[in-house]
Amino acid sequence: MAMERLPTGYGPPARAAHWATAALLAVSIPLGLVMVRIEGDVKFTLYNWHEWIGFTVWWITLFRVSWRLGHPPPPHVPPLPTLQHAAAESVHGLLYLALLAMPIAGWIGNSAYGFPLEPFGLFKLPDLVSKNEALGRVVLDIHGWTGWAVIVLLGMHVAAALHHHLVVRDATLRRMLPRALGGL
Ligand code: HEM
Ligand code: HEM
Repeated sequence: MAMERLPTGYGPPARAAHWATAALLAVSIPLGLVMVRIEGDVKFTLYNWHEWIGFTVWWITLFRVSWRLGHPPPPHVPPLPTLQHAAAESVHGLLYLALLAMPIAGWIGNSAYGFPLEPFGLFKLPDLVSKNEALGRVVLDIHGWTGWAVIVLLGMHVAAALHHHLVVRDATLRRMLPRALGGL
């Protein structure tokens, strides 16, 4: 008799890292959007927190990508249509890429403007490039556009997750939810 395959979820470290990332970005993306549009002393406090949280996300993303190499995501049961699976994987891949590249771009941009970076006030990061405001402007413009691309990708990602949960009513979201919140 063929064994019935039941859907299984992501491992606890992958889930914890996913929701930690989501919570941190829910703070740091709005900070990024607001800080470039306001004036006054608070602007610099928001820059600091945007940057410090961004570095934290970088470490978590590095962990996620390395962890994933040894722990591939569980298969979808029933399998997703090929195109949908490819679309989901592409969005995930682009998000990982952006979350690894953006903090480095932010760091290069700060170095080029001559702004020292001191994550959480704990230690000073070295400058990645020497002072060059023209370079800083280009790199931070790219950082800003990539930020908007991330916002669009996350919109698609969250819409897809909610569509699976509320309309298709499959296990996709429960694969990622913590067990305490109904996860598999
Ligand atoms: C995961 C990481 C990050 C994301 C998703 C992100 C996203 C964003 C977004 C959405 C903006 C606003 C763009 C705009 O409205 O024009 C922004 C601006 C900015 N971010 Fe980040 N950021 C991240 C990490 C960092 C880090 C680690 C640093 C610094 C080391 C940094 C430095 C900056 C700076 C300096 C700006 C202002 C750019 C400008 O002057 O136009 N970001 N970021
Ligand atoms: C806001 C920041 C978020 C980021 C950066 C993010 C990123 C990612 C990434 C990179 C993956 C792929 C995991 C892997 O296979 O290695 C993933 C999976 C997933 N995310 Fe998110 N996510 C975010 C928020 C959310 C939210 C708010 C929801 C739900 C409403 C959600 C639902 C899911 C689900 C259900 C999966 C599993 C997809 C599957 O099984 O194919 N995510 N997320």
